[in-house]
Amino acid sequence: MALVTSKKMFEKAFDGKYAIGAFNINDMEIIQGVTRAAAALNSACILQVSKSALKYAGPKYLKGMVDAAIDETGIDIALHLDHGPDFETVKEVIEAGFTSVMFDGSHYEYEENVAKTIEVVKYAHDKGVVVEAELGKLAGVEDDVNVDAANATYTDPDQAVDFVKRTGVDSLAIAIGTSHGAYKFKGEPKLDFDRLETITKKLEAEGFAKYPIVLHGASSVDPECVKMCNDFGGKINGAKGIPNDMLRKAASMAVCKINMDTDIRLAMTAGIRKFMAEKPDAFDPRGYLGDARVLIQNLVENKIKNVLGSVDSLK
Ligand code: G3H
Ligand code: 13P
Ligand code: ZN
Repeated sequence: MALVTSKKMFEKAFDGKYAIGAFNINDMEIIQGVTRAAAALNSACILQVSKSALKYAGPKYLKGMVDAAIDETGIDIALHLDHGPDFETVKEVIEAGFTSVMFDGSHYEYEENVAKTIEVVKYAHDKGVVVEAELGKLAGVEDDVNVDAANATYTDPDQAVDFVKRTGVDSLAIAIGTSHGAYKFKGEPKLDFDRLETITKKLEAEGFAKYPIVLHGASSVDPECVKMCNDFGGKINGAKGIPNDMLRKAASMAVCKINMDTDIRLAMTAGIRKFMAEKPDAFDPRGYLGDARVLIQNLVENKIKNVLGSVDSLK
């Protein structure tokens, strides 16, 4: 098994009506927790790196640790740039050996997003790297880009078709009501599944059958995990994520990649808070980081089995 692109993963996921989990990585414990879970369930997975994760850990460390995870677990992994802000960052990670990149031009005017995405696609495809782009605006915080919730706009289906046709991107992230972070809904959770269906149908009608759609901001923000944080000194109030049944529904439709970062952060924080509260005399980082790693593995196994449906996708 090896470092691969997500192309075959998405083909199988679309046909099998499941999705591949894309988990944000920042350090060794997250990489090990996620990949041990994927290996235990024989599931493909995508490990993704934001611009700020690149700044925190550096591309060489992250790529080196992902290579080690592949050696240790024997699974297929796609290494992906999450919310790539510009051409230079795309170039940097491709040179470092990433197999997939996202160029996020969603905050640009439409024509500028098209033009910049075309430039990235041309460069990446020449190097055998696949490209994800984004159309529509998610509410919340995406790396350094603050998209005011009030200006959040869902993806226009006709524009999505035009965008895919003109740019040649391999997958498209759309806005249908998800958002980044732990506070996704003030009221009842709601996703625009009709819009997802319309986008898929229109793409199919224009010759893009089985086109992979990506869902960002898809953490479910498990209340038990939030409670564990708060029981041990945390103050996370009013957090709400995407219900698991909605994610399952999206995965059974054209959504082939589901992005999760917040859930990993919460699991890690819960584990560390509990450890610190229960063992105030301990100061070996392997104690609390080890506990956090186990919680991440449990979380990801649960996602693969009950949300993504990607068990045995490496068969
Ligand atoms: O979508 C954003 C991801 O959660 C990455 O966040 O920039 O804090 O690493 P970050
Ligand atoms: P969450 O904040 O819902 O985990 O979303 C992560 C994400 O979309 C990374 O690109
Ligand atoms: Zn995102």
